[in-house]
Amino acid sequence: MADTVRLVEVGPRDGLQNEKQTIEPATKIELIDRLSLCGLSVIEAGAFVSPKWVPQMAASDTVFRGITKRRGVTYPVLVPNMRGFETALGVGVREIAIFTAASETFSRKNTNATIDETFARFAPLIRAATDNHIKVRGYVSCVLGCPFEGEIDAEPVAQVAGRLFDLGCYEISLGDTIGVGTFGGVRRLLSRVTQAVPATHLAGHFHDTYGQALANIHAALDAGLRVFDSSVAGLGGCPYAPGATGNVATEDCVYMLEKSGLTTGVDLDALMQVSRWISQTLHRTPQSRVTRAHAARNAS
Ligand code: HMG
Ligand code: MG
Repeated sequence: MADTVRLVEVGPRDGLQNEKQTIEPATKIELIDRLSLCGLSVIEAGAFVSPKWVPQMAASDTVFRGITKRRGVTYPVLVPNMRGFETALGVGVREIAIFTAASETFSRKNTNATIDETFARFAPLIRAATDNHIKVRGYVSCVLGCPFEGEIDAEPVAQVAGRLFDLGCYEISLGDTIGVGTFGGVRRLLSRVTQAVPATHLAGHFHDTYGQALANIHAALDAGLRVFDSSVAGLGGCPYAPGATGNVATEDCVYMLEKSGLTTGVDLDALMQVSRWISQTLHRTPQSRVTRAHAARNAS
């Protein structure tokens, strides 16, 4: 059997959370429904966070209720505290993602809490999730660099990832929030982090700010990771990471992985149609090099 890779589509959440223009719930619902037809098995559908902190995610409950849940597709949402968990439970969410950081300053800017305080919030959350048979994924931000503290050492990343794993997160996504990582940096990071969490329970979450995301995925594949977060059309940025651009484009991941002999299950043509549609809707050009190359070839 061919080696398989699971892509976690984060466009509707990470991709849109920083968007300045108002995006109606209907557009988000249509985006998720269109993505659901592309062969993706996980689509992050929103964030049940404070609307004062991230206004764009304010109607995530309406969006979640409105999407057509397809068999075989999971729709996780971000949850920072019990308040978000209660909302998630109320609309029938089956998987949540909790998030913290390897940088103290980022943690405070993003969640108004120290790293330890985020874990104090997680404890009741994990208990409630377990009681309700809800799966929990964990995110660590700033694993290779922080917009406020600069370079981040592998040691705090390994510790925070290990704590999330010990708490019961089935998978820990390592976020290069500001996209500063490189092939060598990811290799060094993972040689330490895989001592705390097995590679089979880690995911790579690479923003493409410095154009290194595909190389970083390559380094992570070498270290045994088979799950990567990506965003259709390369949408995105983080409201609390100034200057950060979008995640690696899902189309570019599918192209690179499939051409390298790995199986993603994603229909690239269908995905590029979604990429063009959401980019037109948001009045921009897709950030995916693959989608742009196809458009140029078709135009000539
Ligand atoms: P706080 O201000 O300390 O919390 O924020 P609070 O308890 O004092 O609440 C403030 C107000 O928010 C109150 O409203 C609460 O009711 C309300 P008021 O009484 O003033 O009218 N509130 C909520 N409303 C709805 N849902 C909730 C909720 N919680 C409180 N769940 C808090 C603490 C954690 C809530 C806040 O800091 C927050 O929401 N932060 C989220 C920031 C965020 O979403 N960042 C982006 C996602 S992380 C990311 O992008 C990185 C990632 O992609 C990986 C990577 O790239 O690194 C995952
Ligand atoms: Mg992110």
